[in-house]
Amino acid sequence: MCGIVGYVGPRDALGVVLDGLRRLEYRGYDSAGVAVLSDGALHCSKKAGKLANLEKQLAEEPVPAGTVGIGHTRWATHGGPTDRNAHPHASADGSVAVIHNGIIENFAVLRAECEATGIEFRSETDTEVAAHLLAAAYDQAPAGPGRLAEAMRAVCRRLQGAFTLVASHAAEPDTLVAARRSSPLVVGVGDGEYFLGSDVAAFIAHTREARELGQDQVVEIDRQRGLTVTDFSGAAVEPKAYTVDWDAAAAEKGGYPWFMLKEIAEQPQAIADTLLGRLGAQGELVLDEVRLSDQELRDIDKVFVVACGTAYHAGLIAKYAIEHWTRIPVEVELASEFRYRDPVLDRSTLVVVVSQSGETMDTLMALRHAKDQKARVLAICNANGSTIPRESDAVLYTHAGPEVAVASTKGFLTQLVACYLVGLFLAQVRGIKYEDEVASVVADLRRLPDAVTTVLEQMEPVRELARSLAEADRMLFLGRHVSFPVALEGALKLKELAYIHAEGFAAGELKHGPIAVIDEGTPVVVVVPPRARDLLHGKVVSNIQEVRARGARTVVIAEEGDEDVVPYADHVIRVPRTPTLLAPVVTTVPLQVLACEIADTRGLDVDQPRNLAKSVTVE
Ligand code: G6P
Repeated sequence: MCGIVGYVGPRDALGVVLDGLRRLEYRGYDSAGVAVLSDGALHCSKKAGKLANLEKQLAEEPVPAGTVGIGHTRWATHGGPTDRNAHPHASADGSVAVIHNGIIENFAVLRAECEATGIEFRSETDTEVAAHLLAAAYDQAPAGPGRLAEAMRAVCRRLQGAFTLVASHAAEPDTLVAARRSSPLVVGVGDGEYFLGSDVAAFIAHTREARELGQDQVVEIDRQRGLTVTDFSGAAVEPKAYTVDWDAAAAEKGGYPWFMLKEIAEQPQAIADTLLGRLGAQGELVLDEVRLSDQELRDIDKVFVVACGTAYHAGLIAKYAIEHWTRIPVEVELASEFRYRDPVLDRSTLVVVVSQSGETMDTLMALRHAKDQKARVLAICNANGSTIPRESDAVLYTHAGPEVAVASTKGFLTQLVACYLVGLFLAQVRGIKYEDEVASVVADLRRLPDAVTTVLEQMEPVRELARSLAEADRMLFLGRHVSFPVALEGALKLKELAYIHAEGFAAGELKHGPIAVIDEGTPVVVVVPPRARDLLHGKVVSNIQEVRARGARTVVIAEEGDEDVVPYADHVIRVPRTPTLLAPVVTTVPLQVLACEIADTRGLDVDQPRNLAKSVTVE
């Protein structure tokens, strides 16, 4: 949510900043803006709408070349998506330009204070107060090196809420400063040049050397003095260095018309990478970081899985597997609801937070609440160096590589795989499963990349079907057991990509109400469990008949060889035979392709659906 880029170095800052914004646009696309420092003055250009609008404006009215620049792509919170509200925001005297991600919660008080000094605000944003306060703080800070950072610290101490701020000052030709509290910011270190970004995608084309910034820290990047990090009181902090393990090509479309299609195609590899190196020499499961003792893990008597959006659906599926393998009760919660209902948590509760980006604010706040209540927190995350894994007691990274399309695909499948591993890990640590039993499930997991490849090779009929469904105004998705969350995910994908009203239901629940909405031709997608699960399978086949009898057009996802569904299916989509608990990894794939193709047929932007942002860093 909101993409932030900063650059200090010998190159043309505008080019670097625009390139970074292009790679971060998935974070928000309501407006875009840049500021470049040149000859002692800040030159700003900003425009509502996608980055292309800004680029057009810059072609018509170029800004002078400079070697310090900042850029922003916005997902609007305070103030509508207009030119005026686009970032950067400047101080009244034009000496400071600021970009911001997050929400400054006490902005109304601060704005009134600024207005009392005669400042006239030019936007409706919360951000603008930071520009005015920073200009004033800079004037009061002692002259000399570090002055802008000192001013930033003074301002940050007054701000409430969540923020990443990056600021440039007209009198500081070699310097940028940035601060973060609960919103993302990483630093890229090149050869004689520095980058700031909401995530590493902003600068991966230039360097893979990155520094993590912690909570409540200020960073100064300066061409002469290099990199300096302090906390908000000014105490020096040593930032954690890491090397990004993917390159710029991973964040390119690679010949696909949409990032989402590329990311769907990458799923077999992403699953294989997530499984890589997970079994240790003794057959034990290995997580990436564990700051919990075996005894603490053995003491766990309750698990919560907490997440948002697609990651929440991964959690719903995880419940079936973790409960089955560990016999520990599992509750699954939407992160945005979790802390407000006062959940019962203590030292023996494990809270598994699932987040592709590692920055989702709702999930982060749930994590902090869990830690306040002394619960143990394990993160499943795709973004190395992000906030959620940093604040957790244990981490399992999904190695999906960068996910750029706003709607999650490979992120989801690898989250599922990670959830399975967590379930097995707990079962093993607690002595409920022997190593050979764990190894047998891991072997099943290792067959998943091939199974997903097989599904992907058979997608042409699904694309054809999608084109015939493109005019639908609503669609239902049904499933039982682990296929119920798959149905929810299928419906979510269709809503977010194709803007078609869709709902997922537990197949057995339909007759208790929702079946009333079915009439002639209503498309109903049914995810059928493996044939081996006799009772479950039989019930779902009955549910298909029930909707068919009411006129539904049935699209059935069933395993190879399942002939029972054929008489009741208008369309059958085949998937390879897979153990029940793991089946969502294969049955979700056709639903991703279906939604993507329907959206494309409707002429929509598959990668950047309206109103959405990939990384939602506000509550
Ligand atoms: C946003 C995205 C969703 C994603 C959700 C959770 O709403 O549009 O695709 O599932 O955030 O994101 P996370 O990064 O926490 O997995």
